[in-house]
Amino acid sequence: MSSKEQLYVKKIRNGTVIDHIEPGHALDVLHILDIDGKRGQVVSVVMNVESKQHGRKDIVKIEDRELNPVEVDKIALIAPKATINIIREYEVTSKKRVQLPQVIKGIIRCDNPSCVVNAREPVTPAFKVEVTEPLRIRCHYCGRIMEKADVLKQF
Ligand code: CTP
Ligand code: ZN
Repeated sequence: MSSKEQLYVKKIRNGTVIDHIEPGHALDVLHILDIDGKRGQVVSVVMNVESKQHGRKDIVKIEDRELNPVEVDKIALIAPKATINIIREYEVTSKKRVQLPQVIKGIIRCDNPSCVVNAREPVTPAFKVEVTEPLRIRCHYCGRIMEKADVLKQF
């Protein structure tokens, strides 16, 4: 860890650090995780700090919580370079970069009101990822293209 970063926020003992979030998206990550700050969870948010690798990044540190696979997939949609670090007794015990599958099933709805996924007896939505960054996904059923802003509206 760079000494620069230590100035921003201290290490956590146990929990999850979501690092290398695309700058400007930390609050979207909190939203995905349903963290509103009103339920006592200990959370640190760092925005637009210089990244060791290149450019800038956001970081979210959540104490005493691990993420479920759906939460990780949602984060992958809006922050495709994010890493999920599991911290136990101050050590990083697992570091995984989020990964967008080629086909996304069941996480987001199609924006097209007449798409079959929005019918009375709906089928599970499915999108093909055409471009990861900037995000561009295509509905398997009606071909509707959705981008990051469209996806964010649903989170
Ligand atoms: N971190 C933390 N508390 C700990 C350990 C790590 O908050 N007890 C944070 C670090 O500040 C960093 C992230 O978790 O933001 C990953 O830690 P580490 O792997 O040590 O940092 P780097 O080597 O810089 O990670 P990367 O190579 O993924 O950039
Ligand atoms: Zn559709």
